[in-house]
Amino acid sequence: MVMTTVSLIKADVGSIPGHVTVAKPLLTIAEKKMAEAQKAGIINSSYVFNAGDDLELLMTHSKGENSPEIHKLAWDTFMACAEKAKKLKLYGAGQDLLSDAFSGNVKGMGPGVAEMEFKERGSDPVIVYAADKTEPAAFNYLLYKIFADPGNTSGLVIDPRMTCGFSFDVLDGKENKSVVLRSPEELYSLLALIGATETYMIKKVTRSDDGEIAAASSTTKLNYIAGKYVGKDDPVCLVRAQSGLPSVGEITSPFLHPYLVAGWMRGSHWGPFMPVGLKNSKCTLFDGPPRIIGLGVQVSDGVLAADDDGKPMVVDLFDDPAFDLARREAMEMASFMRMHGVFQPARLGPGAMEYTTLPQCLASLEGRFKEEK
Ligand code: 13P
Ligand code: 13P
Ligand code: MG
Ligand code: MG
Repeated sequence: MVMTTVSLIKADVGSIPGHVTVAKPLLTIAEKKMAEAQKAGIINSSYVFNAGDDLELLMTHSKGENSPEIHKLAWDTFMACAEKAKKLKLYGAGQDLLSDAFSGNVKGMGPGVAEMEFKERGSDPVIVYAADKTEPAAFNYLLYKIFADPGNTSGLVIDPRMTCGFSFDVLDGKENKSVVLRSPEELYSLLALIGATETYMIKKVTRSDDGEIAAASSTTKLNYIAGKYVGKDDPVCLVRAQSGLPSVGEITSPFLHPYLVAGWMRGSHWGPFMPVGLKNSKCTLFDGPPRIIGLGVQVSDGVLAADDDGKPMVVDLFDDPAFDLARREAMEMASFMRMHGVFQPARLGPGAMEYTTLPQCLASLEGRFKEEK
């Protein structure tokens, strides 16, 4: 059986100015590395883009998930870009590259990874999500809406191939253990977990009756790797569409309205998740608001379907007036949250702050706390 793998691997390797966006020379280096790898037969096709200050490598190949060769390619590409960022004195050069030497898999080394291997259907549309100034659990609500809420996804009710429901592989990011829960049978237990975004994040979604892979998202938690706050774990996610899976429109419609996610400004605030096109893939206001890019591709005989010049055809889904309402609502929410300044609930709760900037603040007060009598 011929299988195709889609790998979406990302890292913040340095940005301009501050944490706003990826500089053009870095994108050019990444494109060149990808073109060389394609020539060498390591990958079949690729597309390089950015989500705010995060550099994203979308690749198709036949080497399966967690392939050392593919992960090394991504690692070497990020290292080359970080080198350039250092030369240009860009901000946070090499920020997400937490190790000096590659050890076979980029997971646990800083970069975020979403991968899925599948046997291509007659036609295989894939939606690529990449976000900045947030964390992997930001996709919990999105994936719940797409795969478990019939109010969002009519297909769960009216497409007989989907009425079996979907199974969610949920990671406990603190304990590093996971559990698979089925929707609709175990929906309330599923929501009990994934509604607690500080701890739980969705790794994979499969169709319950045949195990067909439907979605995969990154679950990297940089602070757990580095032992301190070094930047937010800006996440990526792949979702397959149509023919017994949610339609493209059902996959994008959760963004009719924005919702709040954690990770804005210094990784320490809640902010609205704003859908934007690539031309607005930059985090400006208060280093945000948190943004999400949505791209649509077709995976076709192992490659991203390309035009006559061999360029992958990538549809910038949020570059569309259909998402103007969400953007306006996001800015109203942003304004409301910012009115609270550094007070909760604009700022993350103490539990989440433990993993960001609070420990440094507390360190400076050590010894000054007195026991209450
Ligand atoms: P498919 O069942 O062919 O994916 O089409 C569903 C549809 O029409 C989406 O709007
Ligand atoms: P990034 O995680 O996107 O680098 O942002 C860090 C930050 O603190 C922005 O305010
Ligand atoms: Mg950054
Ligand atoms: Mg970022």
